[in-house]
Amino acid sequence: MEVVIVKDAAAGGALIADSVAALLRRRPDALLGVATGSTPLPVYRALTALVRAGALDVSRARIAQLDEYVGLPQGHPESYRSVVLREVVEPLGLDEAAFLGPDGSAEDVQAACEAYDRALAGAGGVDLQLLGIGTDGHIGFNEPCSSLASRTRIKTLTRQTREDNARFFDSPDEVPHHVITQGIGTILEARHLVLLATGEGKADAVAQAVEGPVAALVPASALQLHPHATVVVDEAAASRLKLADYFRATFAAKPEWQGI
Ligand code: F6R
Repeated sequence: MEVVIVKDAAAGGALIADSVAALLRRRPDALLGVATGSTPLPVYRALTALVRAGALDVSRARIAQLDEYVGLPQGHPESYRSVVLREVVEPLGLDEAAFLGPDGSAEDVQAACEAYDRALAGAGGVDLQLLGIGTDGHIGFNEPCSSLASRTRIKTLTRQTREDNARFFDSPDEVPHHVITQGIGTILEARHLVLLATGEGKADAVAQAVEGPVAALVPASALQLHPHATVVVDEAAASRLKLADYFRATFAAKPEWQGI
């Protein structure tokens, strides 16, 4: 696992956008797995800026959703489908046809989950999966004690996650209890995992995920099992890492051509 400590969220966004750009230059129809929430927004902004400046052609890129609320009416502005269309697909000038996501309003949720795993595999698998991390250590919506081998399925959010996400809704009661999430096993199949974490509130979760044991209690610790996982953290989110100086020195000495 590579840990890169950046000055702030914008620097993290730019670094990851450069890596996505390099991938798309190598593989123009790459399947990009995207997360929602606040953390990845600087990545999407930096990527959009590259496209608008004419420095990157994303016209053949494909986008896959990581997770989705269950039970929100179709088209709800906070459904993750709406968020990904608004924050990623539209700014990049992509067509909705380039977008894959689970059906959060399906009557048969389990069938929708299985269909989504099949769709991801059928699309050739995710090339680069962008992840955030919950204050409780979740990735996707794999809450603590999720199986490290789990597939896409329905999960119940913890009270802490519902409180964290209440800021996106008019009232805390409106945050759904249930979600569809790519499983940890599904996420680990992506060719490159890039987790971005910013702010002091993520420092404990980051330290446990990066330097603690691999444990279902800290779902993000599963990144330790992946052969190509990159954790990008700002100074605040890195503040509880014991090996911070080593991570800084390692990245400073890295040849630029290697990327992340
Ligand atoms: C969202 C997702 C979640 C978030 C996490 C952090 O698609 O999968 O794991 O990445 O809850 O959310 P923010 O970035 O809002 O702190």
